[in-house]
Amino acid sequence: MAGEKPSVELCKGINGLDKVVLRDALGSSAEVYLFGGHVTSWRTDHREELLFVSNKAIFKPPKAIRGGIPICFPQFSSHGNLEQHGFARNKFWSIDTDPPPFPSDSSSKTFVDLILKPTDDDFKIWPHSYEFRLRVALGLGGDLLLTSRIRNTNADGKPFSFTFAYHTYFSVSDISEVRVEGLETLDYLDNLKERERFTEQGDAITFESGVDKIYLSTPTKIAIIDHEKKRTFVLRKDGLPDAVVWNPWDRKAKAMPDFGDDEYKHMLCVEAAAIEKPITLKPGEEWKGRLELSAVPSSYCSGQLDPRKVLQG
Ligand code: BG6
Repeated sequence: MAGEKPSVELCKGINGLDKVVLRDALGSSAEVYLFGGHVTSWRTDHREELLFVSNKAIFKPPKAIRGGIPICFPQFSSHGNLEQHGFARNKFWSIDTDPPPFPSDSSSKTFVDLILKPTDDDFKIWPHSYEFRLRVALGLGGDLLLTSRIRNTNADGKPFSFTFAYHTYFSVSDISEVRVEGLETLDYLDNLKERERFTEQGDAITFESGVDKIYLSTPTKIAIIDHEKKRTFVLRKDGLPDAVVWNPWDRKAKAMPDFGDDEYKHMLCVEAAAIEKPITLKPGEEWKGRLELSAVPSSYCSGQLDPRKVLQG
């Protein structure tokens, strides 16, 4: 693959759904379904898949795809009156052929711009006019870059508020071999305990049972260290103060029809989000939320699996 020209190709995916495939010159790639504006694949230059998608994922609208990176908008989870995680992940997005320029445009030439706008029917569910632009790009070294720009286009002068998450499912070798760094000592809301607020204790976050926590006011960098794979995912985020950590574990896995009973062992969601303090936009205002994902060999972190080197770098 190396030495090929970067390409952006619109083609058919599972069940004939439209998807865009991005490939960079070194062979890294990403796939985005127009249904949901949903990234379903991110591969290294060795064609190794970095995102988890369930073998039982149903690629059938309006059911959101289980895995990859669902977009939660305008509501995270059940924190409001809308359907769980809002409607953006259940809608058909369009390719945005003429997006407004980015103030500091990245050097990436391998990207696609998508747009979601409400239909008359959508208006009945959420009575606001908006333009949601999503750019998915491959950056240097095969990094995956997502930028969301959400604009209030209400003509009636009304502001709107929303919560948001990039609900990223990372592929991991074995959940019991995984550690998350960057969230220790922070406050979180525990979704498994009626969203009660607690403070994280201990040095690092490891996994022995189901977890569903919203960490608050998190740093801009978070690392997921996969000891068995000797791989570290680094999340860099902007405009997204919170971070959700979710793994359903065995009992919840069995209750999900589009998720295999044992698949919880091979995934972890770490979701860059804005939840605790909803974003409010007046007409004409725009919000931007950016997520950069890198996958680096853990030896990169000083040869001793030291994520702090990554987090401080
Ligand atoms: C997480 C939530 O973000 O998404 C969990 O914190 C939820 O509470 C999970 O169970 C999956 O949600 P869904 O709607 O995709 O099944």
